[in-house]
Amino acid sequence: MGGQTFSNAGVPQLGPGVGRDRRWTSDAGSSSTRTFTALPFAPLPLRNIELTAPYMHDGAFCRPRTVLKHYNDVPKALREYDSSKLPPAVQQMYHGDDATISTVLTNLDGRLRQPLA
Ligand code: HEM
Repeated sequence: MGGQTFSNAGVPQLGPGVGRDRRWTSDAGSSSTRTFTALPFAPLPLRNIELTAPYMHDGAFCRPRTVLKHYNDVPKALREYDSSKLPPAVQQMYHGDDATISTVLTNLDGRLRQPLA
């Protein structure tokens, strides 16, 4: 459904950061401080998807239903992402601050800007 191109599907930002000092920043411009925030990913095949949880590059979604909820209204779902359901060790690596969310939404693929309803 995402086609053959890379795109930003507005996935909640989850992870320790990148580089030697594990820096996390929403500055996607410089290579030394680059994070996943603005990076495009390739859409993955959906065959047997019910067997391959968790979903997305960072495993932000545990259930297919949550993925659908995400796609149905990406900006809303991103703002309402519930990190309390994550394992405690991963919970601290969730970046749900306004600056990060706004960077993700700025780079969101145009096809996902309107709610699917
Ligand atoms: C309602 C329609 C859609 C559904 C049900 C859907 C479903 C999914 C699922 C289940 C995954 C995760 C696969 C995995 O982790 O193994 C995925 C990933 C992805 N999809 Fe979609 N998709 C839809 C529409 C789109 C559209 C329109 C685009 C392009 C704008 C897109 C781009 C992507 C990308 C880039 C990823 C990888 C994201 C990442 O890893 O961060 N998808 N999709």
